[in-house]
Amino acid sequence: MGNMTLNLSVWRQKNANSLGEMVPYIVSGISPDMSFLEMLDKLNEDLIRREESPIEFDNDCREGICGMCSLVINGVAHGPKRATATCELHMREFEDGGTITIEPWRSKAFPVIKDLVVDRSAFDRIIASAGYVSLYVGEAPDANAVLVSKNSAERAMDAATCIGCGACVAACPNASASLFVGAKIAHLALLPQGQIEGKQRVTKMVQQMDEEGFGDCSNHGECEAVCPKAISISHIALMRKEYLKAILNPEDS
Ligand code: SF4
Ligand code: FES
Repeated sequence: MGNMTLNLSVWRQKNANSLGEMVPYIVSGISPDMSFLEMLDKLNEDLIRREESPIEFDNDCREGICGMCSLVINGVAHGPKRATATCELHMREFEDGGTITIEPWRSKAFPVIKDLVVDRSAFDRIIASAGYVSLYVGEAPDANAVLVSKNSAERAMDAATCIGCGACVAACPNASASLFVGAKIAHLALLPQGQIEGKQRVTKMVQQMDEEGFGDCSNHGECEAVCPKAISISHIALMRKEYLKAILNPEDS
């Protein structure tokens, strides 16, 4: 496949207080082997050369680890490829001459800062509320001293792969953060180290999630469909079970 030319329609917004709009751009000389973010880099080089302001977008690791990249591509959070973050997406997934719309995550709890960059500090505040183990547990024990079943270990590891990108919120019709919070609750609730503070952890994190303005989960499953780590919505069920246990028996937390 030769180099591609694409018609882009990109959300431009000067700052948090200004109105935004979709702006058309044509970008050419795009190799199908370029990543989506490299394609945007090329567009930005063209814009800078024309003395126009480049498009702001979040990114860091560019290998699916950090959770910074966050684009809604043709209406889908992280674009068309399942279990793939925006930074891992390649231009061969798109048609030469086609049109691509590029928008930021849209949710009240993730306000747009500029262009395609949103403020995801609501996630940080949820983690800061109780998403950790604060006990001093001494030296690392022998690996076989604390028994964990294979099933729990695998589920906990799956939950721990959440990179905190926020695509689950962007895709949910209620802008719910339940998949993110469910994953963070589950990866500790499934392991012995997470038990002692478990009830206060789930109570505080769910409360903080509500205070941040995220919506309720009504089991649409859009979150799981766009999650770059394919995190299962079964973690939301586990979070609800942990939350019920905590509010029904708070005294032994
Ligand atoms: S659950 Fe998936 S979509 Fe949501 S923040 Fe974590 S990695 Fe991103
Ligand atoms: S830039 Fe780090 S996950 Fe995409």
